[in-house]
Amino acid sequence: MKYRLLGRTGVWVSELSLGTMTFGGRGHPVYGAMGALGPDEADRFVGAALDAGVNLIDTADAYANGESEELLGRVIRQRRADVLIASKVIAPLGPGVNDHGLTRLHIMRALEESLRRLRTDYLDVYYVHNWDPLTPLEETLGVLDDVVRQGKVRYLGAANLAAWQISKGLGLSALHDRARFVVGQTAYSLVTRDAEHELIPMGVDAGLGLTVTKPLADGLLTGKFSNGPVPDSRRGRIGSTLQLRVDEQKAVRVVDVLRTVAERHATTSARVAIAWLLAQPAVTSVTLGARTPDQLTENLTAGQLTLTAQDLAELDEASRPAPPYTSYMQSNFAPIRTPAAHQLDS
Ligand SMILES: NC(=O)c1ccc[n+]([C@@H]2O[C@H](COP(=O)([O-])OP(=O)(O)OC[C@H]3O[C@@H](n4cnc5c(N)ncnc54)[C@H](OP(=O)(O)O)[C@@H]3O)[C@@H](O)[C@H]2O)c1
Repeated sequence: MKYRLLGRTGVWVSELSLGTMTFGGRGHPVYGAMGALGPDEADRFVGAALDAGVNLIDTADAYANGESEELLGRVIRQRRADVLIASKVIAPLGPGVNDHGLTRLHIMRALEESLRRLRTDYLDVYYVHNWDPLTPLEETLGVLDDVVRQGKVRYLGAANLAAWQISKGLGLSALHDRARFVVGQTAYSLVTRDAEHELIPMGVDAGLGLTVTKPLADGLLTGKFSNGPVPDSRRGRIGSTLQLRVDEQKAVRVVDVLRTVAERHATTSARVAIAWLLAQPAVTSVTLGARTPDQLTENLTAGQLTLTAQDLAELDEASRPAPPYTSYMQSNFAPIRTPAAHQLDS
């Protein structure tokens, strides 16, 4: 396992981390049920991940309606000091009108409940799980700063936020001398590269870490759907509203190229898709999702694969997103903003 710095914190995290969205079988009103792993399987998954060198585990209060945190808390107790635990807040945890969001009211309660379920005194990373349009970001950052100062949270993260939302948060934190977001989290894969337009350049400029979710696009990039639907699969089980939205036509091309590259290295498409993410310089850690021990074993070895320049070029060619309008304008402007251009003038 290789380790990468989490933004500017000085903390090293494993380049592959363990996602626990498949832990527990309780459904959530917004997030549905993504798996059904029980305590023994959760224990085996965590053991395998730690044995492989993983030191970052990702969960959320919403996963399996709290059951993911409960199972993780049960199996991690003896090994708490060996790992960083990241959890998240925003999702509804009850039927009440104030049982969700990024208010002081909800965050204080949700954090206590996450800590209780995880059987720990602190979270290493606490992400806002989404944008709350009703709560001023000043209020959210105020309560997040409080819980950092209380020692209940080590670092703050922002999941699923747009670049401007994170930038606004960083500005407010600097203005009010408060704890800042140190890491962003987003879905990123060979069929979902939109983060490259705004989020990634913003994060690099601000020195944020980046954890990646949905690296296999709900399993699509394994290539297992090439011959039609697979009933025993997430994409076969969950409805389209919970699935990542992708350009299906483009995905067919990407899956073909993945297969070609995988054959070249005598490996699997899943490993190539994860190795491509690891080759992207902005990525700190790829959060692995798995439903079976075999899938986890396969994905955990993706870091051993080094893609060649030719592999990367072929994958890029098949998956490159259309440039945004601003990028077109900026590339026209870029040549005159170089030291060389000015040396020619003088
Ligand atoms: N912040 C957020 O909003 C957010 C959102 C999503 C995820 N996450 C985090 O990111 C983690 C990973 O996301 P994800 O689970 O969506 O990742 P993913 O890699 O896109 O999908 C994982 C699913 O793909 C299938 N799969 C994985 N490896 C496979 C393999 N080698 N061969 C065949 N099928 C395979 C499995 O489903 P089937 O076998 O059932 O098809 C597995 O459950 C989550 O556990 C969670 O911690 C965060």
